Amino acid sequence: MQVKGQLRERANGSGSGPLTNSAATIRGYDNRHFLHPWEMMSSLGAANRTISTHAEGIYVYDETGRRLIDGPGGMWCTQIGYGRRDMAEAIADQVMKLAYHSPWNTAGEPSALLARKLAELSPGDLNHVSFTTGGSTAVDTAVRFIHFYNNVLGRPEKKRVISREKAYHGSTYLSATMTGKERLETRFDIEKRLVHFLPNVNPNLRPQTMSEADWCREKVADLENAILELGPNTVGGFIAEPIMASGGVIIPPEGYFKACWEVCRKYDVLFIADEVVTAFGRLGHWFASESVFGVVPDMITCAKGLTSGYLPLGACLISDRLLEEVRAKSSADLMFNNGYTYSGHPVCCAAALKNIEIFEQEGILEHVREISPYFLERILRLESNPIVGDARGMGLMGCVEGRLDGEADRLTLDREFGHHIDRECEALGLIVRPLVHMCVFSPPLVIRRPQIDEMFDILEHAIQRVSAEIGG
Ligand SMILES: Cc1ncc(COP(=O)(O)O)c(C=O)c1O
Repeated sequence: MQVKGQLRERANGSGSGPLTNSAATIRGYDNRHFLHPWEMMSSLGAANRTISTHAEGIYVYDETGRRLIDGPGGMWCTQIGYGRRDMAEAIADQVMKLAYHSPWNTAGEPSALLARKLAELSPGDLNHVSFTTGGSTAVDTAVRFIHFYNNVLGRPEKKRVISREKAYHGSTYLSATMTGKERLETRFDIEKRLVHFLPNVNPNLRPQTMSEADWCREKVADLENAILELGPNTVGGFIAEPIMASGGVIIPPEGYFKACWEVCRKYDVLFIADEVVTAFGRLGHWFASESVFGVVPDMITCAKGLTSGYLPLGACLISDRLLEEVRAKSSADLMFNNGYTYSGHPVCCAAALKNIEIFEQEGILEHVREISPYFLERILRLESNPIVGDARGMGLMGCVEGRLDGEADRLTLDREFGHHIDRECEALGLIVRPLVHMCVFSPPLVIRRPQIDEMFDILEHAIQRVSAEIGG
């Protein structure tokens, strides 16, 4: 009871405001010691990041007490919004009941209930859940399973995974190997024998005279040709985000995902849907693969929205069919040597169960389906500004892209567009995520219509300011 009482006090505000240390101290320590994800070496030790102090609903507060709309939903993950006392209590209850048990040799209630729930919510026969610590380790697990599966089936050469330019699959060695971001390849060693990249599927890149349907056929043919060129006996899997998220909310042409899945079926290539961003409501469904794109993958990876960012947790869902095939070939000592100290962590699983319960009780998926057409309408309005080249979105994912000078390399042009917009938005009370010449946003799913207006009014204003500054 004492724990609950304390949490209640915090949720009401008394412990959530000012920092315990001065902002200068925290910033100093952060600059000096925290090597942040994707740290820019040129500003190492001097990044002077804004300090987030507390949050409520869709709003985050900084060290000066300013209230900012959380445009990117943390990092595509704060689905149910911040400051949920019921979530805090579910977490605290599990901490007091059982903070940890070894997943190697014991079962636990939260992980068993959550595995069953994910099996129920996911499509087809995806009834086995390998719990991980986040999205990268879920992708790692999926790729390792492809290797394991084909070794067991006696075809050790069938290992290569086909991925796509601009895809992001994570930051472990293996998931980074599957990632199609140009810069990664130049700065890290990638095991190229494990992966093959297909060209960008963004329909905006097609020649002006080409229809989207033809573009789709071409992109699907890219996959089939790659399988044939590499040899179907060497290609073990295809990994794809239904919508590329950090690649810039790239929405593939209509029918693309399903047609790729059919190609994979034809050549006995396993289809991994990386739903680390799209699962848990981002597109208005638990999982987007079947509900939005008509595909039942062989494996689905998920994380982020699974706990709405309250605690780290990921999962790789694997089909019964694959595990049965493996079991049929099993020798006495065969094991899938994959898993982590924190696989199925009871507290993280309790958070995920509470998160799913909140989704169900509050009709969050229905809310996203209802509100997303308006979200899209507001995104599309941004295109009227001359410095905007493209604005697009689906569900509660959106992207605004600076106008580019046609033929030249996109990475070298208008690099600053994202940063200009980000700076102006932050001054006006909105966090966006700058990505070179783009800004992406994916607000908490509980965002309401007036808050969508508030968000896009700021964005429009910021774009006008930047337009006045750099000319448009
Ligand atoms: C599609 C996708 N897959 C995998 C990952 C990696 O997830 P994590 O950062 O939780 O390891 C991300 C992270 O943004 C992602 O967007």
